[in-house]
Amino acid sequence: MKVLAFNGSPRKEGNTYHGIKIVADELEKEGLETEIIHVGNKTIKGCMACGYCSKQKNEKCAIKDDEVNDWIQRMKESDGIILGSPVHYSAIGGTMKAFLDRTFLVASVNDGMLRHKVGASVVAVRRSGGIPTFDQLNNYINYSEMIIPTSNYWNVIHGTAPGEALKDEEGTQIMRVLGKNMAWIMKVIENSKDKVKEPEREGKIFTNFIR
Ligand SMILES: Cc1cc2nc3c(=O)[nH]c(=O)nc-3n(C[C@H](O)[C@H](O)[C@H](O)COP(=O)(O)O)c2cc1C
Repeated sequence: MKVLAFNGSPRKEGNTYHGIKIVADELEKEGLETEIIHVGNKTIKGCMACGYCSKQKNEKCAIKDDEVNDWIQRMKESDGIILGSPVHYSAIGGTMKAFLDRTFLVASVNDGMLRHKVGASVVAVRRSGGIPTFDQLNNYINYSEMIIPTSNYWNVIHGTAPGEALKDEEGTQIMRVLGKNMAWIMKVIENSKDKVKEPEREGKIFTNFIR
């Protein structure tokens, strides 16, 4: 089984990376393969709301001059996904947000490509804004019918200078416990595939508030 992690920080080995790495190390100890993709240092345009993905249903975003379409396919091939972001103004970092909006819309309009994969969010912050950012990342995971492993607190690690988060004793434990629980739930799912039938996917009912 493979877990793909996305580091939304512009810093390659900043605190988001270290938070993700602690989770990934636990997954590796349990025999899962992991890979961290650096998103936050790329140039990624935001969703254009052009409707291309929902019309074409070809698992692609209309914007083709960046890595997003490649990463969507990589996510499809993975069993688990980690979304990691630094807190920027109490929210997801801008480049990561652009990536997530496009990726999760493509996944949604293509028969729920990420449905029943295991997904976890990891946040790095200096002081405030960890919880709103954690909520924002989890919105993508929840929307996609993914399965969320938990830890013994919300998945936020604290630090400012790159690597400082490793001194956050409670934060590092949160990531460790998350990694252990993620590995366990992934094995439970994998080992029950023949025994427990997945619920059938319901077609999405899409209403709005004015008609
Ligand atoms: C543009 C920007 C905005 C930030 N906004 C916040 C904030 O709202 N709250 C906070 O506590 N830290 C904020 N920070 C600090 C980062 O969250 C903190 O340094 C974190 O460890 C960065 O993770 P990284 O090393 O993975 O980039 C901000 C940093 C930047 C560059």
